[in-house]
Amino acid sequence: MKRIVFISTAFLISLLVTRCNSKDEKADAGIATTATTAAATYGGFESQVKWGERLVFLAGCNDCHTPKKMGPHGPENDMSLMLSGHPTQMPPAAIDSKEAAKRGLIVTQTFTSWTGPWGTTYAANLTSDSTGIGTWKEEQFLKCLHEKKWMGLEGTRPLMPPMSMMPATEMSDDELKAIFAYLKTVPPIKNVIPVAALLPPPPPPPAK
Ligand code: HEC
Repeated sequence: MKRIVFISTAFLISLLVTRCNSKDEKADAGIATTATTAAATYGGFESQVKWGERLVFLAGCNDCHTPKKMGPHGPENDMSLMLSGHPTQMPPAAIDSKEAAKRGLIVTQTFTSWTGPWGTTYAANLTSDSTGIGTWKEEQFLKCLHEKKWMGLEGTRPLMPPMSMMPATEMSDDELKAIFAYLKTVPPIKNVIPVAALLPPPPPPPAK
């Protein structure tokens, strides 16, 4: 009797183990397939938008493109205005850009406006509003950053510092496409960026 009980218990256990195993195998296979596809397409993230969101965070786009408010450690990102660029109503910083250029200074006003030897530039509105990148095409975004062209259109001025020096200009097509897909999901904020005040480029150094 005892033996019979033992055998049937062992049988039951082995049956359970087999069933669990076959279930696990299927689940594992499922995960492996998804992970492989996602890794190849979206940098290991489950969607292009999620990958873009992560790249925006890592590349510090908010550092310059999100207006600041004062916090216990000094200026911090005002996420209610996420990625909306230099606030249109903020008066320009009282800085003589020619003087800054002479002294080799680069000065920033709350990180959204930058003055240096190139003049003054204002961080752009990157939200999905029409005053941001709402009407932009993907090719335009790629051209803007890869060819360093304002708005990514033919015949526009060059993209200026600090943006022209940012790692975003070195990113791959796929990385920029992911960022663009994410930016299209960023809540629209109406904010027209002031026109950059650019200084003429310095004359070429005298020939020796
Ligand atoms: C150090 C500050 C800084 C950081 C970091 C930064 N930007 Fe910028 N960005 C600027 C400034 C300033 C401008 C305006 C440049 C100009 O007027 O030529 C700008 C312009 C742009 C433009 C051009 C907009 C247009 O209308 O042509 C795009 C697109 C852009 N940034 C995207 C990004 C993205 C995406 C990131 C993160 C991956 C990023 N920026 C990180 C400061 C920054």
